[in-house]
Amino acid sequence: MADKEHTDPERMEKIVSLCKRRGFIFQSAELYGGLNGCWDYGPLGAELKKNLKAYWWRKNVQERDDIVGLDGSVLTHQAVLTASGHVGGFSDPMCDCLLSKARLRADQIPAQCGTAYRYTGAKEGDWAVEREFAVLLKEGQNENKARKTARQYYAQFHSNKSLSPKAIELVGETTTEETGTTSFNPENGSLLTEPREFNLMFKTQVGASSAEDDPNAVAYLRPETAQSIFTQYKNVLDSTRVRIPFGIAQIGKAYRNEINPRNFTFRSREFEQMEIEFFCHPDDGMALTDEWLERRLKFYEEIGLPRTKLHVLDVPDGERAHYSKKTYDIEFDFPFGCQELEGVAYRTDYDLSKHQEHSGRPLEYFDEETKEKFIPHVVEPSAGCDRTALALICEAYDEEELTDAKGKTETRVVMHFHPRIAPIKAAIFPLLKKNAEQVRIAKEIQASLQPFMTVFYDETGAVGRRYRRQDEIGTPFCITVDFDTLGENGDALKDTVTVRERDSMEQERIKISDLLNYIAERVR
Ligand code: GAP
Repeated sequence: MADKEHTDPERMEKIVSLCKRRGFIFQSAELYGGLNGCWDYGPLGAELKKNLKAYWWRKNVQERDDIVGLDGSVLTHQAVLTASGHVGGFSDPMCDCLLSKARLRADQIPAQCGTAYRYTGAKEGDWAVEREFAVLLKEGQNENKARKTARQYYAQFHSNKSLSPKAIELVGETTTEETGTTSFNPENGSLLTEPREFNLMFKTQVGASSAEDDPNAVAYLRPETAQSIFTQYKNVLDSTRVRIPFGIAQIGKAYRNEINPRNFTFRSREFEQMEIEFFCHPDDGMALTDEWLERRLKFYEEIGLPRTKLHVLDVPDGERAHYSKKTYDIEFDFPFGCQELEGVAYRTDYDLSKHQEHSGRPLEYFDEETKEKFIPHVVEPSAGCDRTALALICEAYDEEELTDAKGKTETRVVMHFHPRIAPIKAAIFPLLKKNAEQVRIAKEIQASLQPFMTVFYDETGAVGRRYRRQDEIGTPFCITVDFDTLGENGDALKDTVTVRERDSMEQERIKISDLLNYIAERVR
């Protein structure tokens, strides 16, 4: 059973700091104070994400003959998202803190108990304001705290901005006892506005000369990659040889104007999804949903997320999207709690039926063998690329206490990425940078590996320090060219190098001519 409450903020802080220090993830527009909810992947983060996406594509498209790929546009026609229900319904309930103006998701406010101090207004000299306000005090808090907060609230309506809130007299104080209320900001006790629905889509205008109010010029940045798969399903069917059951896979950006982006990249406003819409006969939907769940769990294990940290939530009736007959959430134990990585949903024929109805174009499938005509049902494994990358980073991070031969201890920071996901596959070192022959051979090795994988050449500092730098970014193999490579200690080891494995720190001697195969078969 997942322990949803368990968190480790200190570990998370170290991970966020390493991500910036070593170039995995930076805040977008950091130079200008940052763009909230948006992130830039640095050199190592870009490699990590590329490896993750390539493995997902390989497993789901390249190695299957019943799934094909798509790369749809991000800008999405208004009609598509009206048919799918996003224009009318893709919203979160939101409320604002009357004091701090912070915007909160109404459904994420914890139920609170305490005494609410309520006011009808405030006055100071000739000035008066009539507005209701309230402050929730938890048991044991002093009533003066409520009054201080209320005065701060009313002071914002006074024309004299330098007036001390202490000068303001509160009007009509009453108190009520509250249990399980969600009407107050848990941070400061201030009353919140009533929840309002807030559409999460980013709207934009298409075309230079579009009139602002021209409905034909309205487009949206897609909130999920799925819709272009549904709207192109017929074109894919007509232009390829796929037959039901078959899937269309897509990796791409999606955009949601999230009310509270949080937990580093976990909830962002711009993020990448890896989605499959698997089209099937209505009789097969339920069984395929279970099959996909197992396949997806296996995928996560294959990239290094242990099964013990993955949890399956069978989303109960009433909590699933209205169109879904079955949904499993795959959750992972992040340092900030157990949270969703992917949803595996049985979407029935909802989307294709809606697009058929709104477009007026037939989207039925005709089965040549059975002569049956039907709207295909859909099973959708929908994964977040950024969330998975974050899970990989969180899982990989480790601090090990090492003791050397002289009894001196040090902490080794190491990222235990699975080699197939690691940003850099191998680092190549000449033992001595002043030894021209060692440098020449190391560079030759680098050039021979580069067409096949991302490698790194490093000649600065002691070899031990070079190892530590690579451990910290998760490079699984370090190759060192030394005096044995040159044949200076006899012919037996000539043209061999040491390969040091990151996790065990053990070294073996490998022939230079075997290096490519040795590494390639371990990072595949
Ligand atoms: N087509 C179905 C769909 O979009 P979803 O549960 O809203 O379903 C699927 O999103 C996955 O996309 C989530 O499981 C998560 O991994 C990722 N995702 C959704 N919103 C996200 C956000 N704001 N930031 C990062 N990833 C997000």
